[in-house]
Amino acid sequence: MDQLLHEIQRRRTFAIISHPDAGKTTITEKLLLYGGAIHEAGSVTAREGSSSTRSDWMSMEQQRGISISSSALTFEYQGHHVNLLDTPGHQDFSEDTYRTLTAADSALMVLDAARGVQAQTEKLFAVCRNRGIPILTFVNKMDRPAQDPFELLEQVEKTLAIRAVPLTWPIGDGPDFKGVYDLQAKQVLVFERVARGKTRAPVNVTSVGDPALAELIGPELHAKLQEDVDLIEGALPEFDQDEFLRGELTPVFFGSAITNFGVEHFLSKFVHLAPSPGPLETTSGALPPDTEFTGFIFKLQANMSKHHRDRTAFMRVASGKFERGMEVTHTRTGRKMRLSRAHTLFAQDRESVEEAFPGDIVGLVNPGVFRIGDVVSFSPKVQLASFPRFTPETFANVTMRDVTKRKAFHKGLEQLAEEGVVQVFYPTDGARDPLLGAVGPLQFEVFQHRLREEYNVDVELNVTSYQLVRWLAGDTSEVARFARNVEDDEGRPVMLFRSKYDLEYTQRNHPGIEFLPLPKNL
Ligand code: G4P
Repeated sequence: MDQLLHEIQRRRTFAIISHPDAGKTTITEKLLLYGGAIHEAGSVTAREGSSSTRSDWMSMEQQRGISISSSALTFEYQGHHVNLLDTPGHQDFSEDTYRTLTAADSALMVLDAARGVQAQTEKLFAVCRNRGIPILTFVNKMDRPAQDPFELLEQVEKTLAIRAVPLTWPIGDGPDFKGVYDLQAKQVLVFERVARGKTRAPVNVTSVGDPALAELIGPELHAKLQEDVDLIEGALPEFDQDEFLRGELTPVFFGSAITNFGVEHFLSKFVHLAPSPGPLETTSGALPPDTEFTGFIFKLQANMSKHHRDRTAFMRVASGKFERGMEVTHTRTGRKMRLSRAHTLFAQDRESVEEAFPGDIVGLVNPGVFRIGDVVSFSPKVQLASFPRFTPETFANVTMRDVTKRKAFHKGLEQLAEEGVVQVFYPTDGARDPLLGAVGPLQFEVFQHRLREEYNVDVELNVTSYQLVRWLAGDTSEVARFARNVEDDEGRPVMLFRSKYDLEYTQRNHPGIEFLPLPKNL
C-alpha cells in the first residue's frame, strides 16, 4: 500500500480547455518539452521513429489542422507523474472532450490574451464546473497586443463566476512584453526572445525594487509594474488553496507559449497546486483511490492507426494498482475478464503497460465488450454514479452509394456509434435508411470520412430539418400506439421533432407519455 499511496500522491492528471486557436497545442508541446518527453519544439519527435505530439492518426485532422481524437500524454516532472489528456478543441466536436474531462482531476484553461473568454471556453468551463474540478488559467500570447490584465481578470470573474487570482503579473505586452512578476515569490522573470521558442527560454530572476530591473525593462514599464503590484497586493484577494480545490477560485498565470515564456514556471507551480487523484463517485458512495483496483472506460476508439485495426477502450485507473493480465469483473455484465492487452499510446506508437496507478490512462484492446461509462473492478458491484450523455441536436439521413457494401456499412455504423462519433436511429419499418444524430455537424463529416477510410464505404449524408429527439416512456400501450416507427440502436422508441414548438404541442396532447431528452436508466 505504501507504494500505491506514493504513486497516487505524485500523480497529476489534467486536461486543457480552450477555444480553438488559443494555443492549446503549442502549450502541450512546450509542457512536453519541459517534461523532457521531447527535446525540441516544432516538428517534434518523441522517440526514434515516432511522429509529432499532435494526435495525428487521422489524415482528416491534418487536413483541417484540428485534433479530433483524444489520447493521454505522460511525462515526469520534479518527481511528479503528469498525465495530460489531449482534448479536441473544435467547437463543433465536443462530446469527446466532455467525456475526456470525466477522466481529469484538474483542468488548465488557456485564454488568448487579446480575446479573453470565448464561446467554447465557456462551454468547457461549465463542464469542469459541473464536475467540481479545480481550474487553473494560463493567459497566452502576451507577445501580441493584449487586453489589460485587470480587465481580463474581471472578464473571467464575470462570465465564468469564479474568483480569479493572479499568481504572476505581465510586464508589458506585444513587442514590449518583458516578462512576468511572480506575486508569491516576489521575483521577476525576465523574458528573452529566442527564435520561435526552439530551445528553453533563459530566465533571469531579480526583485521588483532592483534598480537594475528599471534598466532592463525601461523606466516606464518599471513604474507601471510597481504601481500594478501595489494595486494587486492592496486590492486583490490572496490565493486560497482550499477555494481553488473546491473549484471556486482560479489561479491565473501569464505567458507566451510560442516563445516558451512562462510555461515552465507554470508547470513548476502546477505540480504543487493541482490535486492528485481523488475518490470516484459510484452508486454506492465515494470510492477512495487507495483501495483495490477499479477502472472506468471514458472513451472508445476504433482503428487508431492503419497498423492496428482494432478497437481501443480508454480506461482511467480510479483506484488501486492495475497489473497487466489481472482478472477483474466487468460490472455491467457481471462477466469476469482478464485485462491482458493493455497499452499506452503516444501518437502512433503503442507500448504495453505492465502496471498503472490511479489517474493513469490505459488503452485496452476492446473486443466489443466495453461501452462508455463501463467499470472494471475487483469488486463486482461498482458502477459509476453518473456519466455525461448528450442529446443530439442535428440529424442526417445516410445512404450507401454502393449497396453491395451493406455488411461493411453496418459494421462501421455500429462501431462508430459505439464510440459516440454519432448516434444512430433506425426506422422500424425497415424500408428507409438509418438516421444519424449529432451534437455538432462536424461529427457527420468525421463519420463519413472514417467510414470511407476505415471501412471502405462511401455514403451520402443529407441533413434533415429535425432538431430534437425525445425518448418515449410512460404509458406503454399509448407509447406503442403513438411511436412513429423510429427507435435507437437499442430498440428504444424515440420521436424526432422539427421544433420546440412541435415538441411542446405533442407533449400537451399526450400527457400519458414522457418525452425524455436521454434514454431512461443511463
Ligand atoms: P489550439 O491548439 O488551441 O488551436 O492553438 P495552437 O497551439 O495551434 O495555436 C494557434 C495559433 O496561435 C498558431 O498559429 C500558434 O503558433 C499561435 N500561438 C500559440 N501560442 C502563441 C503565443 O504565445 N504567441 C503567439 N504570437 N502565437 C501563438 P498558426 O499561425 O495557426 O500556426 P503556426 O503556423 O504558427 O503553427
